[in-house]
Amino acid sequence: MHTLKNGEPWLDTDGNVIHAHGGHMLFRDGWYYWYGENRIGDNYVSCYRSKDLHSFEFRGNIITTSTPTAPIRVKTDLRLGIDGHKVNLERPKVLYCEYTKKFVLWAHFENGTDYKDARCAIATSDYPDRDFTYHGSFNPFGDMARDCTLFLDDDGRAYFIAASRDNADLHIWRLTKDFLNTDRLVNVLWQGEYREAPALFKKDGKYYMLSSYCTGWAPNQGKWSSADSIDGEWELLQNFGDETTFRSQPAFVLPKDGGYIYFGDRWGGKGHYNDSTYIVLDIKFRGDESPYIVYSDAAAL
Ligand code: GAL
Repeated sequence: MHTLKNGEPWLDTDGNVIHAHGGHMLFRDGWYYWYGENRIGDNYVSCYRSKDLHSFEFRGNIITTSTPTAPIRVKTDLRLGIDGHKVNLERPKVLYCEYTKKFVLWAHFENGTDYKDARCAIATSDYPDRDFTYHGSFNPFGDMARDCTLFLDDDGRAYFIAASRDNADLHIWRLTKDFLNTDRLVNVLWQGEYREAPALFKKDGKYYMLSSYCTGWAPNQGKWSSADSIDGEWELLQNFGDETTFRSQPAFVLPKDGGYIYFGDRWGGKGHYNDSTYIVLDIKFRGDESPYIVYSDAAAL
């Protein structure tokens, strides 16, 4: 099997470059579904799928400027374009909601001109890789929500985690049972430490979170923390990776075969967004359960 190289463009089974930046993976019915940002043309979110994490089949652009919209009980702004230009939908994450049997997508919405809206946006489908309906964007409990992730706990409860208060704090909201709204703010973390790009995983009953500092497209020192309960006390932040997290920013962590895989974005940067690539490394643990990554050119896939 060919080796995927970190930091190089990866191709799908049609030979096209994979655009799934700031993404997320959902394992369902034997397939890994990979969702991520695609800013080309009218696209917002693309979906690929793979059984072996080596060959990725393009399934479609699941959110574009012409995705159907429909209101839900939450009052939202349904616009997927403003005054003829695109908005921003960043860091899309998808979970399957057992309660409603729907696939639910959450992302970070901005108006396409500046980053002042700081909203979350949601979409749903009966399928993992097609027919999504966009339900709009809103500020959860009136708060700001920028870099974000979703986390599904073993008890079926889902959490939306996002940088808030102009990125100064990281908020954790528990979602309603149908994953279509924030139910309550369960934690506010690291006030004034400006953490973003959150990525969560759970190992042996403990919650772990990776995050970056806020330096736009430029990479910085990643940090990790852990907690015994998601709404409890999180440990002080500790370094993860080197001073640039091996020139990457966390996208998500994939639990696989009892292990955990770090997916980071190596951003192309301003004006070179479409040159962004991926850094995928095995997360290892020291004896005291501290997670760490070691750089290798070969992606840990
Ligand atoms: C980063 C963030 C990215 C994107 C970028 C825009 O801080 O992690 O998702 O929003 O800023 O400059």
